[in-house]
Amino acid sequence: KKIVLAYSGGLDTSVIIPWLKENYKGCEVIAACADLGQPDDFKAIEEKAYKSGASKVYVMDVKKEFLEDYVWPVVKAGCVYEGKYLLGTSFARPLISKKLVEIAKKENADAIAHGATGKGNDQVRFELTVKALAPEIKLIAPWRMWSIKSREDALEFAAAHNVPIAHKTEGEPYPYSMDWNIWHLSHEGADLENPANAPKDMVYMVTTPPEKAPDMPVKIELTFEQGIPVALNGQKMETVALMETLNKIGAENGIGIVDLVENRLVGMKSRGIYENPGGAIIMYAHRELEYLCLDRATLHYKELVANKYAELVYDGMWFSPLREALAAFVDETQKTVTGTVNLKLYKGNIISAGSQSPYSLYSEEFVTFGEDEVYNQKDAEGFINLFGLPLKMRAMMKQHVEKA
Ligand code: ARG
Ligand code: SIN
Repeated sequence: KKIVLAYSGGLDTSVIIPWLKENYKGCEVIAACADLGQPDDFKAIEEKAYKSGASKVYVMDVKKEFLEDYVWPVVKAGCVYEGKYLLGTSFARPLISKKLVEIAKKENADAIAHGATGKGNDQVRFELTVKALAPEIKLIAPWRMWSIKSREDALEFAAAHNVPIAHKTEGEPYPYSMDWNIWHLSHEGADLENPANAPKDMVYMVTTPPEKAPDMPVKIELTFEQGIPVALNGQKMETVALMETLNKIGAENGIGIVDLVENRLVGMKSRGIYENPGGAIIMYAHRELEYLCLDRATLHYKELVANKYAELVYDGMWFSPLREALAAFVDETQKTVTGTVNLKLYKGNIISAGSQSPYSLYSEEFVTFGEDEVYNQKDAEGFINLFGLPLKMRAMMKQHVEKA
């Protein structure tokens, strides 16, 4: 019996290793840890997994794959869940799960286990991905099965099973449940669970609160090719480096903080604080370019698609036929979304400072009030007559009925 476990190095997943070995007698636990850009010590995590009883440990750097295959498609689509959430956790789960499946196949494992609770979205995302990619693999979700209900329970279980416990560093322990990758950070729990509470400054792990950000705006120029960011300030950059640089600049200027009461797929509302310093900049800049390059019908239709696409991503339906079909539509729209966007970053605000594209549909010549060859103002009269005909018919009908 072999079980592949989605392993983060935290207490919650570390106690799963001895628990699995106790509850699936004679099983072997393979710990798999994905480096998505969270600032962890992966050497230490590997050691911890072995000390906790893993027979083998995989550490995978998936930052580039995450950005190229999961983040960029969603940027191109313009997905924002419930008008605010940039989906940072949502699209990381299918990638982690896909890696678990690859390992499970290679190792001939029977099951995949994860440390998501039974109350959240993450369990759904992990498990739907496994079902979509390897229906024969069994799923184990200890948080839905065991009697560990609190951090105290987990500490007790850890102490009794030789799981190394991180020693308290100075200061108060960070009380929030966190998920961190190169696109975003999420914070949930503790005092945030009451939506009436304003988030304390200590919630933010990377972002300077806007009021403490520099008094001078920072100017940047971001270049896109077919909807994907490729250069900063005229300098071509490798994907991961570009994202990291934008995160740094954004964070310094208080960009990308989101405070949201959202609807979880499993029925309840939850309150989260998100940090998306680089992500907010990319989403904004991409949209600016679309304003120049997309025609009205495509732009408006794409907004409908973005909404549905966001919901699919949030719901863990990454590897679904509809998500894939929508992605193909989005790619078609992005063929001309190439160009350069200038922005000013200032105390949490992103301010447009001009954009340009070789595919721009904007014409100074046509929009100007002077004479031109393409647009004859006399044509507008006939257009308005026909466009307004249904309104006129209805008004005439009303008058007729009133008289009768
Ligand atoms: N509420 C967000 C989502 O559902 C963030 C979840 C964070 N997950 C976590 N294990 N801390 O996508
Ligand atoms: C969890 O419950 O594991 C985290 C929150 C979520 O998945 O929504």
